[in-house]
Amino acid sequence: MHTPRYNNLAIALHWILAVALVYQIALGLWMVDIPKSPPGLRAEWFNWHKSIGMSLGLAVVLRGVWRLKSGAPTFPLGLPVWQRSLANINHGVLYACMVVMPVSGFLGSTYSPYPIKFFGVVLPKLWAASPPLKELMSTLHFGASRLFMLAITLHILAALWHLAKGDDVFGRMMPGKSA
Ligand code: HEM
Ligand code: HEM
Repeated sequence: MHTPRYNNLAIALHWILAVALVYQIALGLWMVDIPKSPPGLRAEWFNWHKSIGMSLGLAVVLRGVWRLKSGAPTFPLGLPVWQRSLANINHGVLYACMVVMPVSGFLGSTYSPYPIKFFGVVLPKLWAASPPLKELMSTLHFGASRLFMLAITLHILAALWHLAKGDDVFGRMMPGKSA
């Protein structure tokens, strides 16, 4: 009998987002250390991070809509309850971080004195700058990024563990015949 698996749209979204999110996290970690002078370089990389981050936010909406409409395939038969529960909890954390990261980043930037440029296009200012709200959003962005990195690490370790065990879990997220 065939093990239920993710369909090709879900698999494409998973892998595009996985690569882009890891890039975005590395970019965020790296860019915060760019010196403020001479001016220009730091702002350029920040704007790039903001543009990619907002695009990722849109991709997450697409993925979320797919997920809410289609649900997840049932777990392979014989997968212990504790593994199902841990997987569900960690997937929940991953989805939560995929929402909180772009939203907190975007809101934080709307409260900063600098305009947001989306791939070079200056977006209209939504409201006045507010240092305390910017600080709050930055703290959330920072904290959620650490939780996200932890959840991604656990997720990858779990995926590789299933691959090493040779059970059906890893193949559910690999391109192939759709169920
Ligand atoms: C999936 C989306 C995103 C991820 C994974 C992400 C990740 C990160 C990470 C890891 C950092 C470094 C934090 C540190 O160590 O200090 C960072 C910083 C930052 N990110 Fe993002 N980010 C995302 C979206 C956005 C968006 C949409 C914006 C703004 C439109 C944004 C604006 C910023 C800014 C301004 C910083 C510098 C620190 C601060 O002022 O809070 N990010 N981001
Ligand atoms: C930023 C990186 C990643 C994120 C945010 C992420 C997120 C997710 C989420 C949320 C799910 C659950 C899908 C759902 O039920 O809707 C999932 C499933 C899965 N991911 Fe990832 N993933 C990432 C990277 C990876 C990597 C690098 C691997 C492989 C080494 C991997 C392997 C898998 C597998 C095998 C499944 C299917 C699990 C199952 O059968 O229930 N993921 N991923």
